Amino acid sequence: MGIAIDNEIQAKPSNTGLNSNEIAIVIQNLKKRYGTVDAVKNVSLEVRSGEIFGLLGPNGTGKTTTLRCLCTLVQPDEGLLEVCGISVTQNPAAVRQRLGYVAQEVALDKMMTGRELLEMHGDLYHLSKGQRTDRIQAVLTTLDLMEYADRLIGTYSGGLKKRLDLAAGLLHNPQILVLDEPTAGLDIESRQIMWTLIRQLQQSGTTILITSHYLEEIDALADRVAILDGGTVIASGSPQDLKKSIGGDRVTLRIREFTPLSEATQVREQLLNLDVVKSVTLNEFQGNSLNLVVEAEADVLTQIESKLNSLNLPLFGISRSQPSLEDVYLAVTGKCVSESLN
Ligand SMILES: Nc1ncnc2c1ncn2[C@@H]1O[C@H](COP(=O)(O)OP(=O)(O)O)[C@@H](O)[C@H]1O
Ligand SMILES: [Mg+2]
Repeated sequence: MGIAIDNEIQAKPSNTGLNSNEIAIVIQNLKKRYGTVDAVKNVSLEVRSGEIFGLLGPNGTGKTTTLRCLCTLVQPDEGLLEVCGISVTQNPAAVRQRLGYVAQEVALDKMMTGRELLEMHGDLYHLSKGQRTDRIQAVLTTLDLMEYADRLIGTYSGGLKKRLDLAAGLLHNPQILVLDEPTAGLDIESRQIMWTLIRQLQQSGTTILITSHYLEEIDALADRVAILDGGTVIASGSPQDLKKSIGGDRVTLRIREFTPLSEATQVREQLLNLDVVKSVTLNEFQGNSLNLVVEAEADVLTQIESKLNSLNLPLFGISRSQPSLEDVYLAVTGKCVSESLN
């Protein structure tokens, strides 16, 4: 039976050269320069149909520019961009039909109601009056915005405004949704509502490309991730594979408050003498904190504690965990999230 199924798959015609059933977005060697600034140096990634793909990276590393090139809002200098097998540069109108883009910062007219804003978007997408009414009804229901639809946007909370942005991006029923920092600045409750909505959209078949500077958000939502630094992709894969690839358990320890950097450097040397300790990174952002990568052995913490005791250094806190996406970020960029993502 398996052979018959294989044959069936092989027999499927592909007239784009790409299997657009499987690959929703292709970005190859994208470059974009503004004056002397390389906003995007060389970005390549592929988003599979139906997945949530997360783009992570420090501020100013080219995430927004990459999304804007993809969404036909910025002309790239070089590179190949395809959406559902369609060239973004050669057929922008067809691409716009398939993409919904929710920008990082949107200026909404406070004196409009949510419904009026959606009506305006419906006109931008040339929806007929009947389609417009149906789609507005659909997105208001999907995003649980019905009760706010006829209130002025000026009265909306931050979370509601973001949901309205999302509703506008979904109005023309796109196959692919591109979200630039959709939860930036939101409180925890509004972020969780947004996460639930994003998951529901994926379940209903929408492919989602999302940027965020909250690593735990990408960890929770994304099937696959690309980490950008200096305008290029420096790591990519599923969060699980990326965590596995950096190996070892993580230990974070704090010696006394306001430890001088010189003392922290000495402690680092001493800890590195332990066989179980694979690496020690000083968290210069918080002078008294050290991040260790250790062998996954049971008595690691005891060994570290007795080492610090022998150095007469009081331990303020110690914790051990499996690698997180934050550890992946630290391992590949050499930077702590707190110092680079904000
Ligand atoms: N329209 C523009 N004109 C000039 N420089 C820009 C423009 N857009 C972005 N840049 C610059 O390009 C770099 C990448 O920006 P951006 O894509 O917004 O990064 P991110 O979204 O990762 O923070 C930054 O140095 C930014 O200042
Ligand atoms: Mg940005």
